[in-house]
Amino acid sequence: MLVYGQEILNKANKEGYGVGAFNFVNFEMLNAIFVAANKADSPIFVQASEGAIKYMGIDIAVDMVQTISKRYPHIPVALHLDHGTSFESCKKAVEAGFTSVMIDASHHPFEENLEETIKVVKMAHERGVGVEAELGRLMGIEDNISVSEKDAVLVNPKEAEQFVRESKVDYLAPAIGTSHGAFKFKGEPKLDFERLNKVKELTRIPLVLHGASAIPDYVRESFTQSGGDIGSSKGVPFSFLQEAVKGGINKVNTDTDLRIAFIAEVRKIANNDKTQFDLRKFFAPAMEAMSKVIVERMEILGSANKV
Ligand code: G3H
Ligand code: 13P
Ligand code: ZN
Repeated sequence: MLVYGQEILNKANKEGYGVGAFNFVNFEMLNAIFVAANKADSPIFVQASEGAIKYMGIDIAVDMVQTISKRYPHIPVALHLDHGTSFESCKKAVEAGFTSVMIDASHHPFEENLEETIKVVKMAHERGVGVEAELGRLMGIEDNISVSEKDAVLVNPKEAEQFVRESKVDYLAPAIGTSHGAFKFKGEPKLDFERLNKVKELTRIPLVLHGASAIPDYVRESFTQSGGDIGSSKGVPFSFLQEAVKGGINKVNTDTDLRIAFIAEVRKIANNDKTQFDLRKFFAPAMEAMSKVIVERMEILGSANKV
């Protein structure tokens, strides 16, 4: 059942588990996410970036989610705009039927980010829609980074407290050292959990972890064996995801893991049968591989059996 984002995340916050927010760009990804949620009995966020919306068409993205969610009436699902870059973009999503939006003005100075977020919150709340904002910059932290460099990049807990109080945002993504994509850490994985704990202590609202793909070994190996090249990739270890959930993360954004698992299967079929051109022969195993990765995450984050 399609619900507002806050409904899913406030429950997760109260009960102390993380909900996967999975990106989709087509029917196959969306279907794989729902199949996994059904298998694990887990609530889900399905999210589309502005690029994904441009690719699918906003009406088709919304229609697909509304239709599939009817097939799984017992699964709470929020349709979320990932990294909305402007008030207008968030408004379009709300008007089209999204039940949650992110306004990502984190690259602007604090006051501007706050101002833009207040505008979006006002517009979205008039329709019951939940809002996510971000503080700090999403980038990995090197071992030798100085304290002042770290402070310049990552979330400032005091600012987070002020930001949440003044904006009335429903959930917040604090930068604590993750980044998007397959290459998150140069050396050993490192996240600032102390900072996360502080933000949670001061805000108490659901928190969001961006750049949370783990790139499990079997997924990397499958991609490499198919002829792909992401040898030096490094994701957020499962143990870190669990520590993050303990520290107050309730929405866990995942795209890269899904893309890698999916494409590895497509390439395997392409390599193994050079005469094959039936799309279904490529996409059926790709959806299955993606669902497996998603179910595993639901179990790790604690959202399995929470519907
Ligand atoms: O955070 C970014 C998501 O992985 C979506 O990426 O803008 O390539 O669709 P995209
Ligand atoms: P990953 O690239 O780690 O999957 O992160 C996705 C994300 O944060 C989407 O907003
Ligand atoms: Zn993100």
